[in-house]
Amino acid sequence: MSNLSELFGISTEMLKEFEYIDECVFSTEIKEEAFDELLGCNCNGPCVSKDECACLKFNQVYDSNGILADVTKNGIIECSDRCKCHNCVNKVVQNGKIPKIKVIHSGDLNKRYQVITEEPIPQGTFVAEYVGEVITVKEAHERLLTQNTYKNNYLFCIDEEFFDKKNEIVTCIDAREYGNITRFINHGCEPNLEIKLVRTGIIIPRLTLFSKRDILMGEELSYNYGTDFAPNLAEGPPCKCGANRCCGNLPFSKIPSIQTS
Ligand SMILES: C[S@@+](CC[C@H](N)C(=O)[O-])C[C@H]1O[C@@H](n2cnc3c(N)ncnc32)[C@H](O)[C@@H]1O
Ligand SMILES: [Zn+2]
Ligand SMILES: [Zn+2]
Ligand SMILES: [Zn+2]
Repeated sequence: MSNLSELFGISTEMLKEFEYIDECVFSTEIKEEAFDELLGCNCNGPCVSKDECACLKFNQVYDSNGILADVTKNGIIECSDRCKCHNCVNKVVQNGKIPKIKVIHSGDLNKRYQVITEEPIPQGTFVAEYVGEVITVKEAHERLLTQNTYKNNYLFCIDEEFFDKKNEIVTCIDAREYGNITRFINHGCEPNLEIKLVRTGIIIPRLTLFSKRDILMGEELSYNYGTDFAPNLAEGPPCKCGANRCCGNLPFSKIPSIQTS
C-alpha cells in the first residue's frame, strides 16, 4: 500500500473508501457479446497506412512517440493479439505508460481531493485510464437511486452512436468501490484533459484521458464531466473548478433509460 502512496499520493485513509485496481472489473450482468474480440489487421511490420490497416482505418493515428495528432476526434482501435503486425505504435493505452501524477487535497472540504501533474505533459499524451466496475445501464440506474448523486459521484456513463445512429453502445463505469487515481480527477469547465474511448481487442471500450493541450508541472488535471447523460444544468451542485469561464454548476447525471450490454 505504501507503494500507492509513493506512486500516486493515495494514502491508507483514502483506501478506506475504495479498493485500488489496475484494470476494470466487469459486472456479471454484462452480456457475453460485449466481450467479442475485434478482428485484427494483416499488416506486415508496423501499422502505418489507413488504407491498408484494418485497425487504423476507423482510427486516429498515434505518432512514433505515442502522441495523438488530433485530440478532438474520438474512437480509437488499438492493435491487439489478433493483429499480424509487429513493432507497432498503435498500442499506447495497453502499454500503460503514463506521466507522473498524484492526488492532493484541494483545500476545499466539499471538493475534497484533486489530481495534479508532477511533470509537464505535452498535448495529445495518454494520461490515465478511468477504471472501475463496468456495469449495465440498469445497474447504473439502480445505483443512482441509492447513492447521493450530488456528492462524490464516481459513476461515468458515455454513449457512442454508429452508422445510422440506431446502433448505440452505452458504457457505464463506477469507480466508487473499485478504482485507481482517476477517481480523484475533478470536473473542469475549461479542462485540460479529453475523454477518449479506446478499444484494445474487445467490443467494450476503455475510457481514457488524453491531454487536450500542453499542461504545466503542478497544474490540476480536469475533464468535462458533461456527457449526453450528464448535461450542465443549474440543478447540479456548485462547481469550484476555478476557471475564468466556469459554468457555475457541475454536470448532473441523467442515465439513459435504454438497456445495453
Ligand atoms: C469523481 S469524484 C472526483 C474526486 C473527488 N474530489 C474526491 O475527493 O473524491 C467527483 C466528485 O468530486 C467533486 N467535484 C468534482 N469536480 C468538482 C468541481 N469542479 N467543483 C466541486 N466539486 C467537484 C463532486 O463532489 C463530485 O461528485
Ligand atoms: Zn498494429
Ligand atoms: Zn495494422
Ligand atoms: Zn466550473
